[in-house]
Amino acid sequence: MRLLNASGCLDALTAPEVAAGLDAFVTKTVTPRPRGGNPPVRIAETEVGMLNAIGLANPGIDRFLSEHLPRLAGLTVWASAGGFSTRDYVEVCDRLDEHEEVAAIELNLSCPNVDEVPESVEETVGAAREVTRKPLYAKLSAAVADIAETARAAEAGGADGLSLVNTIKGLALDERTLQPLLARGAGGLSGPALRPIALAAVHACYRAVKLPIVGMGGVATGRDALELLAVGARDIALGTILFADPGAPTRIRSELEAELAAHGFAHPGNAVGAAHRPELSTLNPRLRVNGKKYLHKRINMAG
Ligand SMILES: Cc1cc2nc3c(=O)[nH]c(=O)nc-3n(C[C@H](O)[C@H](O)[C@H](O)COP(=O)(O)O)c2cc1C
Repeated sequence: MRLLNASGCLDALTAPEVAAGLDAFVTKTVTPRPRGGNPPVRIAETEVGMLNAIGLANPGIDRFLSEHLPRLAGLTVWASAGGFSTRDYVEVCDRLDEHEEVAAIELNLSCPNVDEVPESVEETVGAAREVTRKPLYAKLSAAVADIAETARAAEAGGADGLSLVNTIKGLALDERTLQPLLARGAGGLSGPALRPIALAAVHACYRAVKLPIVGMGGVATGRDALELLAVGARDIALGTILFADPGAPTRIRSELEAELAAHGFAHPGNAVGAAHRPELSTLNPRLRVNGKKYLHKRINMAG
């Protein structure tokens, strides 16, 4: 199992010590041309996670390659590629392909104006596949009709892996003014609220395709990481938690180790897909059960 950051949630240039604690550093999404992103306010907090409407702010592929990439030396770099058309993705992948320092490419297929329907996903992944031999991960959002079908389209297009999941659209209001907190109104919701959504997406895609999966969405503890492994993720990425706790990679690694041991898994790989193997459901005597800490007290379980 590798531990990565989720794209856009860590700046390796300002926090190199955090990036150094990961098995690979995923860049913020890079587009063909520089983008300033959306006007502020671009980030807001809610009770169940974080909203962002950064708007793909990035230096563009030229400056990324000439100024940013050289400063990431020593890290295993996964470059996140984005755009507004298949041609944009092809342009970014083509340029990245020339650089040995880029270990893998993650296609952010949840960009504005990009239709995440299976036909477009297959076309975009297929076109990117033609210009690079680097490992290609298709990053999908769970806000599609059927994520398993989208995953099959990515596989058919030639993806080497999946990154699941991207944010889901949400909105929060200022409690006094009743105006949206973000200047743009809605934004991408990340953090704890995404956890069950990510579990469902990884669970469905694990059954649908053979591709390795990087699981992400609200991971804040070793237990959260274990659950994503159990539904089928092979690797784990940390996003929103890194804003609150830069020490999360070290903490989550050690918590995960304890969780794996408590469940009798000698190696993280043994836990991958455990939720799909009912024969494992017999309660392990060494199991440390914390109780359902996430259940809201007022939920009527009898219902
Ligand atoms: C501030 C912020 C910026 C993000 N920027 C990107 C991005 O540039 N590209 C991308 O693919 N995902 C981006 N994401 C989504 C994350 O990579 C991740 O998929 C999502 O936040 C779910 O993980 P989490 O709940 O652990 O944060 C961003 C998320 C946040 C919170």
